[in-house]
Amino acid sequence: MSKRAAAAVLAGAMIVGLSACSSAGGSADAKGGGDHKLVLGFSQVGAESGWRTANTKSVQDAAKKAGVELKFSDAQQKQENQIKAIRSFIQQKVDVIAFSPVVESGWETVLKEAKDAKIPVILTDRAVDSKDDSLYRSFLGSDFVEEGKKAGDWLVKQYDGKNDDVTIVQLEGTTGSAPANDRKSGFADAIKGSPKFKVVASQTGDFTRAKGKEVMQAFLKSQPKIDVLYAHNDDMALGAIQAIEEAGKKPGTDIKIVSVDGVKDAFTAMSQGKINFDVECNPLLGDQLMELAKKVKAGESVERRIKTEEGTFTPEQATAALPTRQY
Ligand code: AHR
Repeated sequence: MSKRAAAAVLAGAMIVGLSACSSAGGSADAKGGGDHKLVLGFSQVGAESGWRTANTKSVQDAAKKAGVELKFSDAQQKQENQIKAIRSFIQQKVDVIAFSPVVESGWETVLKEAKDAKIPVILTDRAVDSKDDSLYRSFLGSDFVEEGKKAGDWLVKQYDGKNDDVTIVQLEGTTGSAPANDRKSGFADAIKGSPKFKVVASQTGDFTRAKGKEVMQAFLKSQPKIDVLYAHNDDMALGAIQAIEEAGKKPGTDIKIVSVDGVKDAFTAMSQGKINFDVECNPLLGDQLMELAKKVKAGESVERRIKTEEGTFTPEQATAALPTRQY
């Protein structure tokens, strides 16, 4: 080999060596304290609502941006699928597990398995009802009781000074889920001071548009008078709007509607006068989740409870926000 050729081979080898180092080490950002790209196992509830779709996109986009390897699993609204996904993450020895629990109870066994495997767990969006604080490191998400309370407070103001009974039907979220339990109790708490508010029917619509419509159809048949619909999420409210219109009534006028989430489709309905008040629940949790995952992996201390900042929307505010609404 000529001297020139030998020098070229040596230079090539150095370049390969350097690039191998940087890809093995990853960017400083992508590391969570170890020497490899952080691997995050994320078990999502499903794809039941517009909110959920926005939440999934936020997590996937944020992982890409942060250089985190995301192992994503969709549980299709079934707890057994989430338990399977968590067990599979444990087997794969991911660095951190995050999940949004479909229901509140029944997690202790699998979370103990993660703890025994020394894999930190972060709850996002929804909580579990375990008293054992050592089973997860942090819970990032909304205050659902507060959301229910905001919906109830609005109603109390709307009917201030009026003495007639106000008949309310409630579309509940997935049975046993934190947002269904908490939005129901927060709302009940807010209206309990006045006996004129009467919840005459309350049933789950599983957070979906189709179920929301179906249950509202049943309410319209069984209830002689409905003044207000309280829906635990926008998708159910939007399904119910279809049922109300098909029954020949005007949503937002004949039946007042208060809902939770603040997704674009609901804002469009608000701009048409079909929803009267919307309590925001922010799905854009991805960036905060990546930051948390890196911190727990690096052994840093993190806050146990991180609450999402959220507002409320009147039809005027929703109409103004519509052009720039992200989800
Ligand atoms: O957990 C958040 C709730 O789940 C949202 O309000 C709802 O739309 C979703 O399906």
